[in-house]
Amino acid sequence: MNLDILTASSINGVIAPGRGRSSHDLIAPLGTPASVFAAKQALRRRYGAVLVGSGTVLANDPTMTSHRSAEHAPVRATLDPSACIPPGFRFLDGSARTLIGVVETTPRSYLDLLAERGIEAVPCGEERADLGRFLAGLEERGIASVLCEGGGTLNRSLLERGLIDRLHVILLPVVLDAGSVNLFEGAGEPGRLRLESWESIAPDYLLLRYEVERG
Ligand SMILES: NC(=O)c1ccc[n+]([C@@H]2O[C@H](COP(=O)([O-])OP(=O)(O)OC[C@H]3O[C@@H](n4cnc5c(N)ncnc54)[C@H](OP(=O)(O)O)[C@@H]3O)[C@@H](O)[C@H]2O)c1
Repeated sequence: MNLDILTASSINGVIAPGRGRSSHDLIAPLGTPASVFAAKQALRRRYGAVLVGSGTVLANDPTMTSHRSAEHAPVRATLDPSACIPPGFRFLDGSARTLIGVVETTPRSYLDLLAERGIEAVPCGEERADLGRFLAGLEERGIASVLCEGGGTLNRSLLERGLIDRLHVILLPVVLDAGSVNLFEGAGEPGRLRLESWESIAPDYLLLRYEVERG
């Protein structure tokens, strides 16, 4: 399984305008040019699925389908062991192939809701979702590569487990409140990166690509 991360980050590593707030409220007020969104969508189309954490689903209510094209049917995934995503959220609307990591304690009523909507439940633990098992479950279902778009908590867990191959960072021309969500939330060991490439995707906007060194 190839797993890369894509994030839009301020130059001080912040990925949301405030805790519990949508990253759309970070990007839209900057007047971000269309070429930045186009670069993001082109990147998404290179992967078998896009993955986000449940915190991001709750904060952003995203569709994760804006990269849909005649040649590319989007596939989206998240982990929701505690069934916190409300039924009315767009992630559960059945408009694209959707896979959700669940555990043995996930409520039966939620599993029934997923089944009714054609959403694939991916068993990946007893009480806590095991990321390795979840990714293996995606692979068993035909998904060979994943682009994880955060948020910070999921990114940190993936980093700690040594599951990240590459990091794509859209560097936003802004400094934000350091008390907000960090690209890698919380404490942890230093991670070493190697810059593979960079490109200017709009005036003031860079797309940086790093390889994550393991061990
Ligand atoms: N700028 C950007 O590119 C960008 C991209 C994405 C998100 N964001 C922002 O990031 C913020 C959300 O980030 P976040 O850190 O609060 O949440 P998150 O990383 O999106 O989701 C974290 C949640 O996922 C669930 N989870 C289940 N299994 C997990 C596991 N093994 N490891 C880690 N998490 C697991 C946990 O919820 P349970 O304990 O309930 O299961 C956990 O609280 C939002 O403000 C969003 O707008 C920004």
